[in-house]
Formats: sequence, structure tokens, C-alpha cells
Amino acid sequence: PVLVVDFGAQYAQLIARRVREARVYSEIVPSTMPVAEMLARKPRAIILSGGPSSVYEEGAPRLDDARALFTAGVPVFGMCYGFQLMATTLGGTVDNTGAREYGRTAMYVSKTSSTLFEGTPAEQSVWMSHGDACSAAPEGFAVTASTDLVPVAAFENDEKRLYGVQYHPEVMHSTHGQQVLEHFLYRGAGIEPSWTTGNVIEEQVAAIREQVGNKRAICGLSGGVDSAVAAALVQKAIGSQLTCVYVDHGLMRKGETEQVEKDFVAATGVQLKVVDAQERFLTALAGVSDPETKRKIIGREFIRVFEQAQAEIVAESAGTGEDVAFLVQGTLYPDIVESGGGTGTANIKSHHNVGGLPEDLEFELVEPLRQLFKDEVRMVGSELGLPDEIVQRQPFPGPGLGIRIVGEVTRERLDLLREADAIAREELTAAGLDREIWQCPVVLLADVRSVGVQGDGRTYGHPIVLRPVSSEDAMTADWTRMPYEVLARISTRITNEVRDVNRVVLDVTSKPPGTIEWE
Ligand code: XMP
Repeated sequence: PVLVVDFGAQYAQLIARRVREARVYSEIVPSTMPVAEMLARKPRAIILSGGPSSVYEEGAPRLDDARALFTAGVPVFGMCYGFQLMATTLGGTVDNTGAREYGRTAMYVSKTSSTLFEGTPAEQSVWMSHGDACSAAPEGFAVTASTDLVPVAAFENDEKRLYGVQYHPEVMHSTHGQQVLEHFLYRGAGIEPSWTTGNVIEEQVAAIREQVGNKRAICGLSGGVDSAVAAALVQKAIGSQLTCVYVDHGLMRKGETEQVEKDFVAATGVQLKVVDAQERFLTALAGVSDPETKRKIIGREFIRVFEQAQAEIVAESAGTGEDVAFLVQGTLYPDIVESGGGTGTANIKSHHNVGGLPEDLEFELVEPLRQLFKDEVRMVGSELGLPDEIVQRQPFPGPGLGIRIVGEVTRERLDLLREADAIAREELTAAGLDREIWQCPVVLLADVRSVGVQGDGRTYGHPIVLRPVSSEDAMTADWTRMPYEVLARISTRITNEVRDVNRVVLDVTSKPPGTIEWE
């Protein structure tokens, strides 16, 4: 792999993605990993990410043996902080010139014959974020770019295959960043682009067969992209040894349960156990308006129903020699990285409140997506033949419409919200806005009433809130500036077609301060 060394400021994930976009396989390692261990993984190249704004910053992370890393003969690309680390380790000068640069900056390429910059313009826009700056490159390095404030904004030593840039090529504000990264990978490090989702599928199918053998596996389907793709992949590997469980809690959107029951099964041929638990959830939620309480109830009931279904499947297979020993999960690479990047297979204990099961029953996890980013998961899903309606789904919260009704959750209110939501989704899709909008929660203010006039009479109904947001990761979001005509169509249709709704309002709050969901 190409190793991306993470100096701790969230750039590493983006870099790893960009490397994979260049069709080269990459993995993130923490900067605390000993250099000897990094080299033992025989990386094709190493990229040092950004991090603190200066190598002289107090507590700035260090590699245990930076010199060894730069002299091992492995191609290295230092970015921002990684660039300064390369400079200082190899005898260049990084000092406090007062040259702080933050944000979009004009950079001048001084040597167009450079490995990194060939074919890119002499002046280009780059994203800077640094305090101290490099004023002299290490011996043997050619300076290839500068800015108005920084004499050494990039350098390279082709013979030693060491490259560095002060800016962040991985962010889109650096106009030629991807090209520069690809130049490093293909020309500097001599790597052929060959990583494809087809490789992933082949590799994973083999690995799953090896892991599961002739045992059985179960997988919970949520209706979301990750669990669907994980299940499809495992289905491809072990076929009828897999059973999927889908808990219909009645809080899904219109058509979602049918999508899982029909489209997913049609595309994969998976064995599916659908548990209709609508009554159970409605009963448990009766009289509850507090958001946190609702979430807790939904989570609790979900686990109970799932465990019950699981126990039934386990009981059916018990003693057949094909016991259920595996649980499939759609864990993604960012989840792994965020939780510290463990590599072993975790064992989770099943809960003890399941009747008739041995106390110490354990499932081993099968996590075929643990190397992948979300966009790659979508590509794998498409390649496995899953329909776009499943693969391109926007995020939808586990508690479903239960947390999109402000007030008590009842069957009537769910039906009403389902209608309004279906209209909004239909119009957004028709307007071609599905990709631009990260997600658009539709919220029913069930505890609010407002006066309206419809037909010849006064109405006293409920408002529906539209909450279209743009986001990259749901951590932050901005409200989407949607075309007025589309808003108008949604508003007209909802007020005309959904009974008891006489008003549609638009949420124009970014996150922070407002979360994406209302509850
Ligand atoms: P918030 O509302 O916190 O939402 O800005 C961020 C993202 O997470 C989704 N979300 C959930 N997803 N279970 C989920 O699986 C949940 O309980 C949950 N709550 C919020 C939300 O839709 C958005 O994409």
C-alpha cells in the first residue's frame, strides 16, 4: 500500500481518499507508529500529512526516526507539516519569517520540468495553512515553487525520490492538487494505477469464504447503503449460508420496506427475514414526546426485535453442523480510523436476554467494507448490481421518522409525514437535486397548529418543515440554496395533497448551530 502518516489534523483521511481516487490503494497509519514498523509493511510510497501549523509548535508530533524514513529508499511526499518535517530532518531551514499564510494563496512554479508540477500552470492557486516557513531547501533538493511570502513552497529530489509541498494538495481549493498528487504517485514513485472496486470485490469474496467456511452468517439490514452493500458482498461469497434480518419498525419512509423486500432481494437473491414490529414500536412510543426518550425507546426495541429474530435463526440451524457463527456489519474505513484503527477481528458477545441461547455464545464479525470509504462502497454496490435507489440513498437516521415528528408519534402522524416526505423526495429527484443535496429531512410539527384557508374554509392544521442541507460528512452543514421553483412545487403539492397540513416552511439554519435533524 501507500501509507499516509497521520499527524493528527483530519487531513490524512482526505489524502487517503485522493490517493484512491488516483486508483492507488492507500492506508492511514498514526504518526506514533515506529518508522521501522511502517517500513516493514513494504509501502510503495509514504505520504506525510499536514498537522500542526509549524514543526516548532509545542507538542508537535515527531516520528521516532524520521531520518530512517527519508533514507530508506521509499518515495516520500511531505505535505504542509510533513514538508517542514522533511526539510528540518534533512538539513534545510524552517524558521519564523513571520510568513503566516492561511487560505487561498497564489503560488509560482519556478521549474516546470519538475516531476510534481510538469504540465501545470506557472501560477496556480493553492490552499495554505502554516505559521513558520521553509527558507532553504535541504542540500540536493531543487526548489520548484514559491509564493509572495515563502521562498520555498515546494521542493524535490528526484534521485532520492523525496518530494514536498508547503500547501495542501488534497483540498479542492488547490486547483492542481490532484494532478500533483498523481504525478508523485505515477512519476515520482512509479506506481501503476490499478486499484479498482472490482479488485475489492474479488479480494473480499475470497476472504469471506475463507473466514466463514461452511458456517452460517446473519446480517441486519437497516435500509441504508452500508448494510445493503455488506450483505450483497457476503451473499456473493457464501450464498445461502447468509440470512438477512430486516426489522420493520413502521418508522420508515414510503416505499423503503418494499425496496428492501423486493429490489434488494431481486438484485442479490438473499434469504430475508422481515419482522413486522410496527405495533410494538407504536405501543412503546405512545405518549412520548421527548426526543431523547424516543431515541432510547426506539434503540431498545430495535435490539430486542433483532435479537429475537437472530435467536430464531440460530435455533433453526443449531446442531446442523452449520451453526450461525458470524455477524455481518457494514463498518466503513472512517469508523475504523476514528476508533483508533485496530486490525484484529473483534468478537462481540450476544446479549444474554435471548431465551434458549448458551450464555457464552459469541459471533465473529464479518466486515467486508472496513477498508472502504463511502463513495467506494457505493461503487462496489453498483458493481454488485444493486439498484441506484439503494446505492445512491441519502443518509437517513436509524430512528427514522420517529425523530422527525415534533411531538408524540402516532400512526396517523406517521402516515401524514410519509406522504409529505414522499412528495418532497419525488420533486427533488425530478429537479435533479439528489446529488447536490446531502439530505433533506422533512419534519412534521405535530404540536404546532396554524390557521389557513383552503377551498372556502378556514383550516387549523400543522406545518411541515423542509430542511435541505449541503454537507461533506454531516459534521457541519449549510442549508441548501434550492431553486424557488422547486420549493414552490413541493409546497403546493404538500398543502394540496396532504391532509391536515396547511403550511410549508423552509429551515435556513446551518450546522452549527442547528443539527441536521430536528430531534
Ligand atoms: P445531526 O442531526 O446530528 O445528524 O446533525 C447528523 C447525521 O446523522 C444522522 N442521524 C442519525 N443516523 N442514527 C443514525 O443512523 C441516529 O440516531 C441519527 N441521528 C441523526 C442525520 O440524519 C444526519 O445525516
